[in-house]
This record gives sequence, C-alpha cells and structure tokens, in this order.
Amino acid sequence: MNVLITGNSSGLGLGLTEELLATQATVWGLSRRGCPLSDEALRDRRCDLADLNAVPEALDRLLSDCLRLDLVVLNAGILGRIQPLHQTDVHDLEHLMRINLWGSKLILDWLIERQLPVAQVLAISSGAAVSMSYGWGGYSLSKAALNNLVRLYAHEMPDTHLVSLAPGLVDTAMQDYLCEEVDHQEYPSVQKLRQARGTDDMPDSRQAAARILKLLPQFSRDHDSGAFVDIREL
Ligand SMILES: NC(=O)c1ccc[n+]([C@@H]2O[C@H](COP(=O)([O-])OP(=O)(O)OC[C@H]3O[C@@H](n4cnc5c(N)ncnc54)[C@H](OP(=O)(O)O)[C@@H]3O)[C@@H](O)[C@H]2O)c1
Repeated sequence: MNVLITGNSSGLGLGLTEELLATQATVWGLSRRGCPLSDEALRDRRCDLADLNAVPEALDRLLSDCLRLDLVVLNAGILGRIQPLHQTDVHDLEHLMRINLWGSKLILDWLIERQLPVAQVLAISSGAAVSMSYGWGGYSLSKAALNNLVRLYAHEMPDTHLVSLAPGLVDTAMQDYLCEEVDHQEYPSVQKLRQARGTDDMPDSRQAAARILKLLPQFSRDHDSGAFVDIREL
C-alpha cells in the first residue's frame, strides 16, 4: 500500500505512519519538523504548507518515484487560538487557512496535474466543521471549508474516492492547549474535552489511527465520494 500523509511528525499523522509501516506500507510524509521514525519504507520531506509556493516543488521531490497512491491523508492542521472571531487578526486566519485548506488544495491539484492515480483521499476534518462553537472561529471556518473543498474535488477526481473525516477526540498536542490553557468557564465547549482526556473517549494517536485504517473500506463502500463522515456516528 502506498500512502501520502501530511503532518506526520506528531499526533494522528505520526500514529497513522506507525500503523501503516507496521503493515508493510510505503509512506510518503510531509511536515515542517519531519517524521521522527526511521524506516526503509518511509520517505519523508520537510515542507511548510503555509509556504504555498514551496508545496509543488516539495511534492516533485518527495513523490518523484511514486507511480500510484492507494491513500492520501490530508492531515496537517493547526488549531489557532480559541477566542472570539471578531478579536482574531485576519492575517492569523489567513495563515491558518493556508495550512488547513489551501495546502491541501495544492496537493490535490498536483496529483491531478501529474495524473498520479489515487484510490482514496481522507481529509482530516473535525466536529468543529459543523458545531460552530463560541471561540472556535478560525478553526471551524477552515474545517467547514475543507469539507466543502472535498465535496467540490469529488466532481473533479472521478476515479478517486474522497471523504472528509472528523476523527473524534485524539490525545495529541492539540489537546494540550485545549485542555490545559483554554479557560473552560469562558469557553464551555472545552469542558467535555477535559472530561474525556485519559478515558476511552480520547484514544491516543496510534489507537485512533488503527481505527481509521480499519474503517477505510467502509468509507468508500458506504459513503458517496465527497461526503463528510464523523467517526463518532459510525
Ligand atoms: N486531536 C484531536 O482531538 C483532533 C480532533 C479533530 C480533528 N483533529 C485534526 O487532526 C489533524 C492532526 O492533528 P493532531 O491532533 O494530530 O495535532 P498535532 O499533533 O499538532 O499534529 C499536527 C500535524 O500537522 C503538521 N503541521 C502543522 N502545521 C504545519 C505546516 N505549516 N506545514 C506542514 N505541516 C504542518 C504538524 O507538523 P509540523 O509541526 O512538524 O509541521 C503535525 O505533524 C489536524 O488536522 C486536526 O485539526 C484533531
């Protein structure tokens, strides 16, 4: 199995990489820090997705010997600050959109232009794409846009099955900020995250990755290409 994963230096992307390498898959990874694993079947390239001009060249180099991809996981993402949208600097929002949305668009564009066959695309979204909770402004906007990006590209990639996936709560660095730094009195939506941490409701990244990979056939069997799937509803 050939898999491209963005954001595989930590968290869910790293968990997916570990799980896939354990099943003899070949993994191509993109992130700023680089994947900390060392494995013959891992090809890794450092790239800042916010630097949009650098993305096509990074893909040229990374995927130069790749003939087909069974799976592309558009996983890289940042949360931004939990704060009222009207107090959020538009330049910070623009930066967040580059990583959470436009970087993924450029990757899909590159794959289409190079005519690299891709069987399945999984864009890692969030429940925040639909919940629109107070304080989650930039992140919610970016994930809602990502869901719609996937719907739109489903028309343009007829030979590929695409879904955007809310992976449920995963115990990663993103949760460090949400559970430890965000004021839960002002932002009640983070209360349930704090309660879930350390329980089965917030698996670690490797457990979450294993569940996602197990569900892969179900995504293409049970959902139209372009659909948004929330793993908690399966
Ligand atoms: N954790 C959760 O509960 C949860 C819930 C719903 C959705 N998600 C989504 O899951 C995905 C993974 O997040 P995570 O929880 O695993 O957080 P994480 O540990 O912070 O991982 C984020 C990954 O994205 C990469 N990334 C961030 N900015 C980047 C940039 N400018 N260029 C390239 N790569 C970049 C990071 O790599 P570098 O820093 O090395 O660049 C890292 O590998 C995200 O899309 C997130 O929105 C997470």
